[in-house]
Amino acid sequence: MNGLARVCWITAPIFAVLGMAFGLFMAASGDHTLAPAHGHLNLLGWVTIALYGTFYTLVPHAAESRLAKLQVLLAVAGVVLIVPGIAMAILGKGEGLAKVGSLIILGGMLLFVIVAVRASGRAAARA
Ligand code: HEM
Ligand code: HEM
Repeated sequence: MNGLARVCWITAPIFAVLGMAFGLFMAASGDHTLAPAHGHLNLLGWVTIALYGTFYTLVPHAAESRLAKLQVLLAVAGVVLIVPGIAMAILGKGEGLAKVGSLIILGGMLLFVIVAVRASGRAAARA
């Protein structure tokens, strides 16, 4: 497994453990106020980054570029910012962090489009 896929396969399950613990805590306390923060920790942290990891495992040459490394960095940093940001927004403590986090996550996904299109171009040229 290449280094970038490894980063994804280590961070995604960490986010999953945190997200599930968050869910269990909500279920046990009966307080679901922060459910959107829990949902997006699991969906952006576990599901989305595991999908990036799957892609970089299946298409290892796509993981070699600096753009790909920046792509994963933005995806991980975005989760770290957006989850507390959503909680702050729900609790009425400001939306700034959620906005910054969501733009970083969007930036990461836009870079992924470029990485995936370039990789498919290289694969087509080889065929
Ligand atoms: C141990 C595992 C988990 C537990 C105990 C748990 C628990 C919960 C609870 C108590 C809620 C609030 C439900 C409500 O208020 O109606 C919730 C909402 C949600 N959960 Fe989980 N969850 C778990 C795992 C996951 C995973 C793995 C995902 C996604 C991959 C996920 C996605 C969501 C979403 C999208 C919502 C709705 C968020 C919203 O209302 O905006 N959960 N979960
Ligand atoms: C930059 C990325 C994202 C932003 C800014 C965002 C924003 C939002 C917002 C504002 C809501 C409404 C929350 C509420 O009503 O309390 C929401 C709900 C939701 N989002 Fe996201 N989202 C993002 C990414 C995603 C992704 C990647 C997924 C799935 C893989 C997802 C799945 C959901 C689900 C399942 C709900 C709950 C819908 C419901 O219960 O009605 N989101 N999101």
